[in-house]
Amino acid sequence: MDYRDKLVLAPMVRVCTLPMRLLALDYGADLVYCEEIIDFKMLRTKRIENNVLGTVDFITDDGTLAFRTCAKEKGKVVFQLGTADPQRALQAAKLVEKDVAAIDVNMGCPKEFSIRGGMGAALLKQPQKVKEILTALVQGLSIPVTCKIRLLPTLEETLSLAKLIEGTGISALGLHGRTQRERNQHQNHNDLIKVIAQNLTIPVIANGGSREIKRFEDIAKFRDETGASSVMLARAVQWNPSILRREGLLPIHSIIKAYLKYAIDYDSVSMNAKYCVQQLLREELETPPGKALLAAGSLRQICDIWRMAEYYDEAQLSQSKAKTDL
Ligand code: FNR
Repeated sequence: MDYRDKLVLAPMVRVCTLPMRLLALDYGADLVYCEEIIDFKMLRTKRIENNVLGTVDFITDDGTLAFRTCAKEKGKVVFQLGTADPQRALQAAKLVEKDVAAIDVNMGCPKEFSIRGGMGAALLKQPQKVKEILTALVQGLSIPVTCKIRLLPTLEETLSLAKLIEGTGISALGLHGRTQRERNQHQNHNDLIKVIAQNLTIPVIANGGSREIKRFEDIAKFRDETGASSVMLARAVQWNPSILRREGLLPIHSIIKAYLKYAIDYDSVSMNAKYCVQQLLREELETPPGKALLAAGSLRQICDIWRMAEYYDEAQLSQSKAKTDL
């Protein structure tokens, strides 16, 4: 896989499930990351071909859907793993190896849950562990491996970690231009991403620019400022996935409808769809549709707000008919 000149949907917990990934691809993303999935969770899953929905599902022993993918995103979906252990990482990645385009390791998440488990940004302080995890994955998998890091407190430390990472043979490096202590409202250090990109031979995927990205043209500006090979967007897509469209932004209500269509077609969990639609509607949550959304308790109720209840009912009917026909 070529990681140059790519427009990438960044991993986002709760946001980057199948409907958002498909929508991002429709609008112009080249690669789409799933939400971070922890190795322990993946290791409790079974792979099931879901002939009703036309998907491949990974279902945990308590019946929870951990990961769902379909042919439409084949060759474009990157599976992001949360891990603190090389062998566990490899075992978990092996489960999805045939169903995804690449594996990414989250080495930037500053949340307490990740840090306590020795995952995410905790890895930034453990170069030896980083090396072991990435080496195990690169050597053990037949698909590309990448990782996503943040800046370390100094440029020298970041550069030294980036070089060590490059030495493991990974295919590209995702780099969020903030340190672990910096929050998303802080300025992204595009200049530091640039120095790292100039000093590596593997492609760097720049991340952290959403605050300044209001139109499609701003994406190229971010890429130029960071000197990176590719750009990865999280919040800008969470707020308005049509930012990925070369042709320009679409009205938010038509995006919500397109999102809901995928949520219906792929039988999304209602709370997941509700969260994503809330993010899309965030400036209109005080309006009647916004209030109805906040009160909605099911996917059907959400669909009803956008006059899609009939489509929902028809899809449910044909899905349950397909189930009985199998
Ligand atoms: C994130 N981010 C994130 N990062 C990651 O590596 N794995 C993940 O699962 C998540 N989950 C997540 C959820 C939500 C709701 C947000 C807003 C962010 C971080 C994200 O990928 C990205 O690094 C930052 O948001 C900065 O990029 P933007 O938003 O400026 O494009």
